[in-house]
Amino acid sequence: MIKHEPNPLYAANTDRYQTMQYQRCGRSGLKLPKLSLGLWQNFGAVDSMSNAGAMLRRAFDLGINHFDLANNYGPHFGSAESNFGDLMKMDFLPYRDELIISSKAGYDMWPGPYGIGGSRKYLISSCDQSLKRTGLEYFDIFYHHCMDPETPIEESMQALDFIVRSGRALYVGISNYQPAQTQEAIKILRDLGTPLLIHQPRYNLFDRWIENGLTDVLLNEGVGSIVFSPLAQGVLTNKYLNGIPEGSRASRPELIYLNNKDITPEKIEKVRALNQIAEARGQTLAQMAIAWTLNNKAVTSCLIGASRPAQIDDSVVALNNLNFTSEELVKINQIVA
Ligand SMILES: NC(=O)c1ccc[n+]([C@@H]2O[C@H](COP(=O)([O-])OP(=O)(O)OC[C@H]3O[C@@H](n4cnc5c(N)ncnc54)[C@H](OP(=O)(O)O)[C@@H]3O)[C@@H](O)[C@H]2O)c1
Repeated sequence: MIKHEPNPLYAANTDRYQTMQYQRCGRSGLKLPKLSLGLWQNFGAVDSMSNAGAMLRRAFDLGINHFDLANNYGPHFGSAESNFGDLMKMDFLPYRDELIISSKAGYDMWPGPYGIGGSRKYLISSCDQSLKRTGLEYFDIFYHHCMDPETPIEESMQALDFIVRSGRALYVGISNYQPAQTQEAIKILRDLGTPLLIHQPRYNLFDRWIENGLTDVLLNEGVGSIVFSPLAQGVLTNKYLNGIPEGSRASRPELIYLNNKDITPEKIEKVRALNQIAEARGQTLAQMAIAWTLNNKAVTSCLIGASRPAQIDDSVVALNNLNFTSEELVKINQIVA
């Protein structure tokens, strides 16, 4: 077994809590940073560990103390959690109580009927595997990654409740649940005595589905939200304005969730128009896209991805200007309509 010692070369920036802003998650006692870092891409077995470590350290030094994982992040499945576990042992053990670390189960993870879905069997065994891979004693938040129509919602919620009661996680969340399912989950979890902390939906300038009912449910019920893919996987930046650059997510065939078919001329035209508004605000488009998600009062934290530390530096600057004039919002709405 590899013996892990804290890295004597890394000591976290002592000013890390000076610049980041923290926001209460719904009506819970937990505050989250307005920016959180996800490890879906660029932390897997195919990626550079030194770059992955540099991104985690840069994020933490900037006050981003929430890292988001899932069982199947990689590629290959599980490898982002294993890599995170190694980096955690090297750099972050002294800071465990300053961190909010989440993981999830729901999508396809291992063969057969118990490696996908929402059964008690899958959720609890997957949580145990994730704890083993990361070397953590508990997750701060454990999510059901997506609604499973074949499993009674009561069973999935009871599994989440058990995960908390058995000490595997401190809080529970759901991801990608529709408004009515969310309402049901909130009621069941409240009755069980483990209130729903947070919802994790996709939300960005091109995908505003949460505005059709979900945000109302979350605000009424005092549940927080952390929104993923705020940059539409990089499309809401200026990187694709002149084609698909080498090394970008859309150029990497192993990253199957964004490819050149998603970068259409119509979309780039909108990106160009949005970029002009961002410039007039004195922001990069990435910064404006992040600020725009945080302008929604149902949003607790904006969950970014990154492929290098400099992107995290750039994205954090978004917090310097989170306000939008009504003219800017009208123009933005016209562009993305
Ligand atoms: N619950 C769910 O079902 C679900 C689904 C998806 C994601 N998530 C979570 O959300 C996290 C974020 O998702 P995402 O990676 O799609 O988010 P994203 O922030 O929309 O996209 C991240 C990508 O945008 C580019 N980028 C980031 N910052 C930039 C900057 N300042 N300037 C220019 N380009 C920049 C990079 O692309 P390049 O690689 O091209 O440089 C980066 O890999 C995931 O890691 C995961 O934790 C959850």
